[in-house]
Amino acid sequence: MCGIIGVLGEHQAAPLMVEALKRLEYRGYDSAGIATVHEGRLDRRRAVGKLVNLQDLLVDSPLAGRAGIGHTRWATHGAPTVSNAHPHAAGPVAVVHNGIIENFRELRAELSALGVNFESETDTETVAQLVAHHLRQGKSPAEAAQATFGRLEGAFALALLFDGEEDLLIAARLGSPLAVGHGEGEMFVGSDAIALAPLTDRVTYLDEGDWAVVTRAGVQVYDKTNAPVERPVKRIAIDAARIEKGGHRHFMAKEIAEQPTVLGEMLGHYLDASGDIHFPDALPDFGTVDRLVMVACGTAFYACQTAKYWFEQLAGLPVEIDIASEFRYRQPPIGANTAALFVSQSGETADTLAALRHCKGRASHILSVVNVPESSIARESDLALPIRAGVEVGVASTKAFTCQLGVLALLAVRAAEARGRLDAAGVAEKIGMLRSVPGLMNLTLGLEPEIERLAGGLAEARDILFLGRGPMYPLALEGALKLKEISYIHAEGYASGELKHGPIALIDQAVPVIVFAPTDGLFDKTVSNMQEVMARHGQVLLITDKAGAARAAEGTWETLVMPTCDPLFAPIVYALPAQLLAYYTALAKGTDVDQPRNLAKSVTVE
Ligand code: AGP
Repeated sequence: MCGIIGVLGEHQAAPLMVEALKRLEYRGYDSAGIATVHEGRLDRRRAVGKLVNLQDLLVDSPLAGRAGIGHTRWATHGAPTVSNAHPHAAGPVAVVHNGIIENFRELRAELSALGVNFESETDTETVAQLVAHHLRQGKSPAEAAQATFGRLEGAFALALLFDGEEDLLIAARLGSPLAVGHGEGEMFVGSDAIALAPLTDRVTYLDEGDWAVVTRAGVQVYDKTNAPVERPVKRIAIDAARIEKGGHRHFMAKEIAEQPTVLGEMLGHYLDASGDIHFPDALPDFGTVDRLVMVACGTAFYACQTAKYWFEQLAGLPVEIDIASEFRYRQPPIGANTAALFVSQSGETADTLAALRHCKGRASHILSVVNVPESSIARESDLALPIRAGVEVGVASTKAFTCQLGVLALLAVRAAEARGRLDAAGVAEKIGMLRSVPGLMNLTLGLEPEIERLAGGLAEARDILFLGRGPMYPLALEGALKLKEISYIHAEGYASGELKHGPIALIDQAVPVIVFAPTDGLFDKTVSNMQEVMARHGQVLLITDKAGAARAAEGTWETLVMPTCDPLFAPIVYALPAQLLAYYTALAKGTDVDQPRNLAKSVTVE
């Protein structure tokens, strides 16, 4: 995914765009670039690698102008090179793009046959060349843009800047989010509200297929039929302070530390003082739902996998889970009383959005659990439930994961109540357990120095395994994902009972095995699996509670003693050692914790 910014400002655009790109860098950081129009002349600066490289370039070679566009890239077509960096230019037009133009080869062939020479390998340059082609035909910038947008297939958020036009931006969106920001005598375009937050709190979100002509006087939006339309101006409540590191070394460290606070705030949003759960009226009556399908990607999928235990054990509701990139291609049967629930931190993950659209008109209800209420997934749901985790900048999802789990736990309790499986006392008991989680998280954060020490023993490992049973099995998968995505060490999560069916062949004294095992009903079986590992010289790090340590710590490489918590919602608390182990292992490895290689915060391409 890439980040886009456009400025029609009263002052120099370059500093505003660089600041916005800093806020967008979580979306991709393979290269960055800006273009401006100054004294009627369009000019560009582009650099490979992190944004700081572009900043250095701008010190040596400043770019003047009050109108501009900027971009930070996560490469899809073409390696991260200067020639593939955005903005792409063709004659009098410059373009920045987030998404994939799926028919770019066909368009490129058409233009090449007309004698157009391309300088890059990207799909985006095709857009610039096609606009330039229409401009050469005598069309105005808006006419050339409109003609071009009509030929594009795939997903795109685009911003166009034109030579000689110091009061014009043209923007378009199909499949990738784009917003127009309203300033005082200034106007902006941005991939999301985070980028626009320092510039304005008044935003117009473009709908699917919209394109827009932006001047300092305002914006005219056109829908996919090119009819002029009015889109609402919304006030965004991005807390700009929460986009800073707050004294922490990394965003990930800050977001791990914030979890007790934001989880408490989330619970306060859905629970009243007496512990009654308040969901919007649009929430389906789970008593009429005969199956729940939950679909997501990555960490959000592991939240769904955890919640499956809760919905089925508490509510007796059959749950089917799937990763979004597989879901619709297996043509899952979706009955008239099947509800579909999509979990996504960003609310823009293309695979998850596509799965949601597949369920439209099939599932009885389209629900989503998201961290960005104005996101595409939220806006296309019958009901979007916010997790209220605040802006999550670190590419490795942490507070979003535990807040997703919190909302899903509340939904499972509500479903149990609606299906007659929990009476008022039962509901009060479960809510009491959930309300104790922020305090248990705080106690767990007190173990951070111990976890940092333990991580030192992981940094040199070649392979690491994570084990868990029951609701701890998805946490084993999540722990492996956290570790591999920021430390680049190969790690896998397994159901403890599955190891003996093959993976135990991997075990030797060089393989750390991290076992999540609160003293629950599955503890003894997990200990048996752990001993099978130790019998083969596997180095076991047991993460358990005091009672568990007393029963099973002997012979382990290390044991981390967690605060005692009810096993049902223990995954929310045990997520913290998983996150901290990954964080400190990555620190020991010297990798880029907040912007790990090859990744982006939200993957808006399939
Ligand atoms: C998690 O640490 C990863 N960054 C990634 O797996 C992420 O969870 C996944 O891409 C889904 O993103 P979403 O929640 O924004 O849809």
